[in-house]
Amino acid sequence: METPIIVKNLTKKFGDVVAVNDVSITIEPHEFLTLLGPSGCGKTTLLRCIAGLEDPDDGEIYIGDKLIYSHVKGISVPPGQRELGMVFQNYALWPHMTVYKNMTFALEIQKLSKEEMDRRVKESLEEVKMSGYEDRYPREMSGGQQQRIALARMLAYRPRVFLMDEPLSNLDARLRMDMRTELKRLHHISDATTLYVTHDQLEAMTMSSKIAVMKLGVIQQLDTPDKVYHFPGNLFVADFIGNPKINLMPGWVSRQDLVDMGKFNIPVKTYNKRGDVVVGLRPEDIIVHDTPTDNTVEFTAYSVLPSGADTTIIAHMGDTELIIKEMGVSKIQMDQKIWLSFKQDAINLYDKETEDLIQS
Ligand SMILES: Nc1ncnc2c1ncn2[C@@H]1O[C@H](COP(=O)(O)OP(=O)(O)O)[C@@H](O)[C@H]1O
Ligand SMILES: [Mg+2]
Repeated sequence: METPIIVKNLTKKFGDVVAVNDVSITIEPHEFLTLLGPSGCGKTTLLRCIAGLEDPDDGEIYIGDKLIYSHVKGISVPPGQRELGMVFQNYALWPHMTVYKNMTFALEIQKLSKEEMDRRVKESLEEVKMSGYEDRYPREMSGGQQQRIALARMLAYRPRVFLMDEPLSNLDARLRMDMRTELKRLHHISDATTLYVTHDQLEAMTMSSKIAVMKLGVIQQLDTPDKVYHFPGNLFVADFIGNPKINLMPGWVSRQDLVDMGKFNIPVKTYNKRGDVVVGLRPEDIIVHDTPTDNTVEFTAYSVLPSGADTTIIAHMGDTELIIKEMGVSKIQMDQKIWLSFKQDAINLYDKETEDLIQS
């Protein structure tokens, strides 16, 4: 089904708080788009406006070619008629209903045959690895199991679009990983337009075809995960995405294609920018040498943190601290002198004043 979600100039206020501030976004058919941002940035509110659970103050929303909300035209289609599948943080299974009943009450309203309902319940439970739980009550299951039933209920409903608000937040780390795998497969198979909300950047990076990074009710960047990671559009996005965090260092462009960092210089494309900048460099884009060579800068290994698969090195030079990530086990010892070079094409330059990526 070719069902985009189109949001135009949507605003939602709670008293003085502008939870969603003039947001325009299109979730293309078949896309898995994730709203990503810190707690309180307006992700849930935007999703709830699309679901019809909040009454916006302004704007328009289309699902497919159907106008489901318009402030100006006074249109607001009730939630039940928006044909959406939803899974929320608080998974809200009916406590007095079995799993089977929880999964089929919406299907009964659609007047599906018993055989069709049985088939959908069986298939959906298989998808979330909960086969055989049809007769359990919610209280007889763990939080994680209940959450998976909530997902299965959404799948069985076969909606035009999926809306999910932090559906994995109640699961332990191992199960979260499993469910990321399954959700991505599910989307791969169903191809349903999906709007997903999370504050977990790893979830967003691993599953999404597009990510919209939000801050204070405003979308900061809408891009593929790869672009958001490698070309963050502003300092907020750069700082929010990546673990360990990106290195952000103040510098000064005194002449074309050279940034003066105080104790050393970094050659990098500066376009027409002069003056104060911030250099953004990911930890894996710094190379550690144990002897000085051309174009290296001397630091000291302040702390060395091996994790098995990789090693994080915290390097100091005066007040400057850099976080470095090396694959595998590092030979570097704490307090050892090290010499660093930077992968030049991985460096991003930001305007200190506007905080935007400099790209022209
Ligand atoms: N029902 C409400 N009443 C008052 N303020 C609300 C309500 N819901 C959300 N907010 C406020 O709106 C902002 C966005 O909240 P929310 O959409 O829940 O953010 P997120 O899901 O990104 O954590 C926050 O400042 C929050 O306190
Ligand atoms: Mg939320």
